[in-house]
Amino acid sequence: MTTSPRLRSSLLWDDGTVVAVDQRALPREHRLLRLETVDQLIEAIRSLAIRGAPAIGLAGALGVALSAYRHRSGRMADEASVLADATRLAAARPTAVNLAWAIRRAVARLAAGPEAVLAEAMAMLDEDAAVNRAAVERAADLVESLIPDRPVRILTHCNTGRLATAAVGTALGAIIELRERRRVAEVLVGETRPLLQGARLTAWELGEAGVPYRLCVDSAAAAAMAQGMVDCVLVGADRIAANGDVANKIGTYGLAVAAARHGIPFVVVAPESSWDRELADGSGIVVEERDATEVTGFAGADVAPTGAAAFNPAFDVTPGELITAIVSEDQVFRPHTPRARA
Ligand code: MRU
Repeated sequence: MTTSPRLRSSLLWDDGTVVAVDQRALPREHRLLRLETVDQLIEAIRSLAIRGAPAIGLAGALGVALSAYRHRSGRMADEASVLADATRLAAARPTAVNLAWAIRRAVARLAAGPEAVLAEAMAMLDEDAAVNRAAVERAADLVESLIPDRPVRILTHCNTGRLATAAVGTALGAIIELRERRRVAEVLVGETRPLLQGARLTAWELGEAGVPYRLCVDSAAAAAMAQGMVDCVLVGADRIAANGDVANKIGTYGLAVAAARHGIPFVVVAPESSWDRELADGSGIVVEERDATEVTGFAGADVAPTGAAAFNPAFDVTPGELITAIVSEDQVFRPHTPRARA
């Protein structure tokens, strides 16, 4: 394993370039990417070198700054060129709403010049850390109140840690917060096929934080619940509709169905920027479908017959009625609680 210097944030701006941890290489190698062009940044987002809803949003905002400096003339940037880059950046991945949200915020500062765009992106990096800190404390309080009598056995999926954000993380941040409160017995980590964000990234972050964990194949999760090995499921989100339907990594919906079957609390931790209140429910969420080779191969080797077709959605949508609570920096939203009529 090789290592590069640890970043204070999973993303930063350094002398006109975007520097990011290459999440494709972990845990074997801690490698930093230096992205100098919008095209390189788009490729990093598409290939999941930079991944996780908040992190791709922040990368998108930094990408607008990159473009504004590249298209600078005098004190201003050429608006049409930057807007064209912003549109391409926003299309890099379709599901996480944070990407379009952060790009919109950066673009809103364009008329004030490249420095103003960069200042906005940097402010978003700082805000993300603060927002996540507030959400993880609220989520940890909630889990403590739901399971007050014993150290908690938590199941999580995909990676929602500091790698997936500027800092702190969301669901994984809450797990680490609970560990600091001495309330974690064990974390079961679903490996998260096909790209193994659980096995590669969450296990790595939990190991660094000293949290006891075991990996399981995704298909073992329901059996673990049936055997009484799970007190609570904690996951993140890529887009949340107004009614509390949640798009998250493929497999999340199945976990929610199994958790409901076994009466296990199912908690989503995500910043307010992951809400898309223009969507009444999850039926309007665009789910990214990725290349078949992610499923037909494993660790660089073909495992399926040549030419096998595959269904490879990157996300699924969990109906709000299966979710105990969605926790953000501002609120604990309980989608299945009947709301008073206006
Ligand atoms: O395809 P990925 O790895 O970007 O998917 C990430 C997830 O589904 C995460 O759970 C979500 O983005 C929340 S990250 C705090």
